[in-house]
Amino acid sequence: MAFRFLAVLACSFLALWALAPSVRAQDAAGERLFRARCASCHSLEAGQNRIGPSLNGVIGRKAGSVEGARYSAGLRDLGITWDAGQIDRFLANPRAMVAGTTMAIAVTNAADRAAVTAYLESQPASN
Ligand code: HEC
Repeated sequence: MAFRFLAVLACSFLALWALAPSVRAQDAAGERLFRARCASCHSLEAGQNRIGPSLNGVIGRKAGSVEGARYSAGLRDLGITWDAGQIDRFLANPRAMVAGTTMAIAVTNAADRAAVTAYLESQPASN
């Protein structure tokens, strides 16, 4: 009995140990992708709008709702709240989701989309 318990415990630790680096790797990849492919137009600081709106706290935020940001009518009237699934859909093909959007880039690689979305989710919201 004790042996079984220890074996289960050991397996759990092994699983965690095996999983942790891949989670960390995804975080690092997400941050790298954000810097390379999003940061030229988007800041993560609240209130800092560039060509695109600030992405501070974007997960859980109503689409098209940042004060002072320049939005297309399509995005302003989208009427959704961003969650990971919606962000994934938007990044895959912004124009297919939001007619007339001014965000011209797409992230076609699904793993890249997952990494950058996870990175956005991991960022603290400060407003
Ligand atoms: C060339 C500039 C540019 C780049 C690069 C860019 N975006 Fe955007 N993004 C925009 C613009 C402009 C909008 C507003 C679009 C509209 O109003 O239709 C926008 C809107 C968004 C929104 C909706 C925000 C809201 O307040 O509803 C999200 C989410 C988003 N971008 C994520 C990303 C991510 C993630 C990346 C990197 C993979 C990225 N963007 C790269 C310009 C850009």
